[in-house]
Parts: sequence; structure tokens; C-alpha cells
Amino acid sequence: MTNELRFDDQVAVITGGGGGLGQQYALLLASRGARVVVNDIGGSVTGDGSSTEAAEAAALEIRDEGGEAVADSHSVTSPEGGQAIIDTALDAWGRVDILINNAGIVGDAPFEDMTAERFEPLLDVHLRGAFHVTRPAWKVMREQGYGRILNTTSAAGLLGNVGMSNYGSAKTGLLGFTRVLAAEGADHNIKANAVAPIAFTRMLTHSIDGAAPPADAAAQAVLDELTNQYLKKLDPALVAPVVAFLTHRDCPVTGEVYTTGAGHVSRFFIGRTKGFYSPGLSIEEVRDHLAQIRDEAGYTVPGGPADEMAELFAMLMAEQ
Ligand SMILES: NC(=O)c1ccc[n+]([C@@H]2O[C@H](COP(=O)([O-])OP(=O)(O)OC[C@H]3O[C@@H](n4cnc5c(N)ncnc54)[C@H](O)[C@@H]3O)[C@@H](O)[C@H]2O)c1
Repeated sequence: MTNELRFDDQVAVITGGGGGLGQQYALLLASRGARVVVNDIGGSVTGDGSSTEAAEAAALEIRDEGGEAVADSHSVTSPEGGQAIIDTALDAWGRVDILINNAGIVGDAPFEDMTAERFEPLLDVHLRGAFHVTRPAWKVMREQGYGRILNTTSAAGLLGNVGMSNYGSAKTGLLGFTRVLAAEGADHNIKANAVAPIAFTRMLTHSIDGAAPPADAAAQAVLDELTNQYLKKLDPALVAPVVAFLTHRDCPVTGEVYTTGAGHVSRFFIGRTKGFYSPGLSIEEVRDHLAQIRDEAGYTVPGGPADEMAELFAMLMAEQ
């Protein structure tokens, strides 16, 4: 007997699986017995171009190591693309157990330069892309009464990062998407969680390269040292175990967000402070009690809107 977590007889679809983080997810799941659709459009980090090579090479690598994988190069950005990606899994193996929405691009700009042309493509790939692939997968999962969905969010959205209003909006939209899928999937053995990875991939390299260059040689040396010392510890392979666990049959949680990098893993959550109550709340009371409103002592983590409402009503009853 072994307590190794395995994915035998399960089919996983991984979008953006031709490189970076997605490829590590594909490799790990396949090494544990999953049959994997490696989807990837094979474009640049900013979403230009396309090629079948990335997906095909990643699928080939899995097969060379004795695993089962097929390549798919459709874009996640349309309903037809999403359907085609899921059809690739259905045509090959007749089922879909795991969907990892990982495909992503970047396109930073300060907000004053954030035109609709820069904003929309990010929503198309991250948020609408996850929607387009999840819809046909959901249908299959509902029918079979089993599914694991993992969406990819980001600290750049959850916590906010300059120049990333497009990326941050899309990534945080995925938080709501994950929470609602978790709520709707609860009665159907479908679990939906999200990961906020930190990994040294071409995407992180692009962000670092796009930052203002150091003013002098000494500052550049410090940056180089930082890269060697720390960034290289952000091996994307170290994110894969968290993703694999969250998509495993044994995963006990749903609707949650895990942040992970360099082998460290922890959980992000939305907390509600105890707050302040006044039956005739005025602007001045908000000003005068802001510290109490913001005080994190005794916060709660509501599981959904009904929980929050219950907390509010319980407080009102206690005050009567
Ligand atoms: N690297 C990090 O530190 C980090 C941090 C937070 C979130 N993320 C997220 O993790 C995911 C993976 O990013 P990564 O760092 O591995 O970058 P990456 O650029 O190596 O991987 C993204 C992959 O998505 C593919 N892709 C892009 N548009 C696509 C489309 N329309 N259809 C199908 N595939 C498409 C790309 O070809 C690429 O292979 C992304 O969603 C990214 O936003 C990464």
C-alpha cells in the first residue's frame, strides 16, 4: 500500500499548458496517472502570434516519459475555442474530471494609458477564457457528478499592483467566478478553487524587464544578486503540488484561494471585521469610528452572502 496521491483513469484539461506553470502541472498530473489535454495557443507573453509547437512539444514530453497526453492549440478566447478544447478530451478519452484554467497574458500600462484596446484582451484570455472552457466542462462534470476546477488568480489583482488594471480586474473576476462555481457545484461533487502562484516564468521575467531599469551599476548588481538568490528559487515545479492537490479527488476544500511559491503555501481569504453599529448611522460616525470599523481583531470569514446576512441579523438581535 502507498499513500501516494494518484490520478489514474482521470482526464485533466490544462489551458496554457505548453510552457511555464501549466506545463509543470501537466507533467506532474501525467506522472501520477492522469490523461492530459495540453492546451496552448503558443503565442507571446503579451498574446501575439500563435503556434501549435508549444502544446505539441509539451504533450510529446509527457508521452516520452510514459504518460498519456494530447495537444490542443485552440484559443480559450471564444465559446467555440472552449468547446473545441473540451471536445479534444472527450474525443480522446470520453470524459473530463479536471479543468485547470491557467492560460494567461500580460499587457501592463499606467491607467491613464489603459485604453479599451489594452484592457479587453486581458479579460478575453483570463476571465472570459476561463468561462468559455468551463461551460462545456461543467456540462460534462454535472452529468458525471464529479469535477475539479482550478482557476488562476494573482496577487497583482487580489492585492493590487500598479500598471495592471486590466490583469488585476481579470484575475480578481476569477475570484468571484471561483466562489460562485463552488457554491453551484456543492451539490454535484464539483469543487472549484483558485491558485495565486508566484513563479519565475517568462511572465515574471517580462514584468521585471518592464520595470524601470536601475539608476546605476551598483543598483543593477543588487538586482542581479536578487535574481540569483531569490527569483531562481521560484521554480514553477514547486507550484504544481498545490495545484495537483486542489484538483485531486481527496481535496476537501472548495471556493478557496491558495497562494504558493518557492515551496511555501498559504491561504488568502476574505475576512469581515466585527465593525461598528449605529441604528442611525451618520457620516461623522463613520469618520469617528473608522479605526473600529477597520479593526481586524475578531474578524469572521463568511462562507457566502447568507452567512454574512446571518452575522448582521445576529448582531441586530443582540443589540435589541
Ligand atoms: N508567474 C507568476 O509569478 C504568476 C503570478 C500570478 C499569476 N500567474 C498566472 O499563472 C498563469 C500561467 O502563467 P506563467 O507564469 O506560466 O506564464 P506563461 O506565459 O509561461 O504561460 C501562459 C501560457 O498561456 C498560454 N496562452 C496565452 N493565451 C492563450 C490563449 N488565448 N489560449 C490558450 N493558451 C494561451 C501561453 O501561450 C502560455 O504558454 C497565468 O494565468 C498567469 O497570469 C503567474
